[in-house]
Amino acid sequence: MLDAEVRELMQPFVLSDYQVQEVYSRFCLEVARGLKRSTHPQANVKCFPTYVQDLPTGDEMGKYLALDLGGTNFRVLLVSLKGHHDATVDSQIYAVPKDLMVGPGVDLFDHIAGCLAKFVEKHDMKTAYLPLGFTFSFPCVQLGLKEGILVRWTKGFDCAGVEGEDVGRMLHEAIQRRGDADIAVVAILNDTTGTLMSCAHRNADCRVGVIVGTGCNACYVEDVENVDLLRADFKKTKRSVIVNAEWGAFGEGGQLDFVRTEYDREVDEKSLNRSEQLFEKMTAGMYLGNLVRLVLLRALERKLIFKQSSRRPEFASVLQRNEEVFETRYISEIEDDSFPEFASTRKIVKNLFGLEKASVEDCQTLRYICECVAKRAATLVAIGVSGLVNRTSNRRVIVGMDGSVYRYHPEFDAYMRQTLQKLVKADKEWDIMLSEDGSGRGAALVAAVASKTK
Ligand code: BGC
Repeated sequence: MLDAEVRELMQPFVLSDYQVQEVYSRFCLEVARGLKRSTHPQANVKCFPTYVQDLPTGDEMGKYLALDLGGTNFRVLLVSLKGHHDATVDSQIYAVPKDLMVGPGVDLFDHIAGCLAKFVEKHDMKTAYLPLGFTFSFPCVQLGLKEGILVRWTKGFDCAGVEGEDVGRMLHEAIQRRGDADIAVVAILNDTTGTLMSCAHRNADCRVGVIVGTGCNACYVEDVENVDLLRADFKKTKRSVIVNAEWGAFGEGGQLDFVRTEYDREVDEKSLNRSEQLFEKMTAGMYLGNLVRLVLLRALERKLIFKQSSRRPEFASVLQRNEEVFETRYISEIEDDSFPEFASTRKIVKNLFGLEKASVEDCQTLRYICECVAKRAATLVAIGVSGLVNRTSNRRVIVGMDGSVYRYHPEFDAYMRQTLQKLVKADKEWDIMLSEDGSGRGAALVAAVASKTK
């Protein structure tokens, strides 16, 4: 049985029906403001047009390179599109050293170009002409398919000299500086666009792409008449365009203050990008473990967990050591654990605190804390998804999803569905689909569709 005091501790994370409705209305308003030229500058949810207008047919063919920068790792991929909705992917993961994440931008792009050259050499393609799709998962103003001006860094990146610059050009220049491969950057895209494209490759009804990983964001297919921000000389010959919502920034105008907790405020205050990406800080993998860590500290202080142990002050100092000690993946592992054995939970507690056999009661308390933090994140993500699904003109809408939190948390999908059921309009038929390598296959598809359009 859970202590009433533990429930009370977690109450601020439990969103009431009224709060869910209110966040939903505020979110929808921000999307509308982001799309309109007159309100766009003040809007938090920027709704950037991506210039991706054609969804894949499944018949795309050819070999494409893809780069994926924006999560914990950086990847280079070789994607072979084979027609018949089929593709194979060969990829290599490279680390982005911490100092490169916050060093000069040119160094970051030189590192990327270096990895790219090694990859091409390994695949014996040094002399081949290779079109490349660059999945760059940060907020960008796109001027066309292959020009993306970085608006701001997120997720712990902060390289000098890149904000306000065209990242397509920076990558192109880094490749040219080496001069050892024939690679052309033909498209820049967000990971949410890649997710949408890779799901649409399999299922033609996909209209929304969502990432809940290190960061959190979504894109969706909007009618061109509603997208004021398309370049004036852009010919509106097609009916729709993918819009990158950049919903991570929602709340920067105070819209979420009525649901943000003291823990959310602390996460924000200690972050690299203070007062920015407030919705992302309540939903994304980069922050969820830290939120649990802060709640645990409060629970220790109030003697709500590890009550029997005299070592509570020692446990608190472990948690105070750094913001990353309670990893977000623990949340998934703990919620996946079985009662009453709690094998994974006990292992995590042992590794963190050196406590041999945590009691069933302590395991249940820890699990409840994780559950409340994850459920709130899933509810907020579903509020955003509902807003986008309800905007699309299709009756049947598939939502393509990816990201480590969504993928590995055992209940995230179920939590999301509960909220979607409440908020999506009754005349819509919807479902969620897991994306297969949106950042790779999706990037190749954007590159392929771009080449076809030309
Ligand atoms: C970025 C988005 C990205 C998301 C998921 C956010 O921090 O602003 O562009 O889609 O992370 O990777």
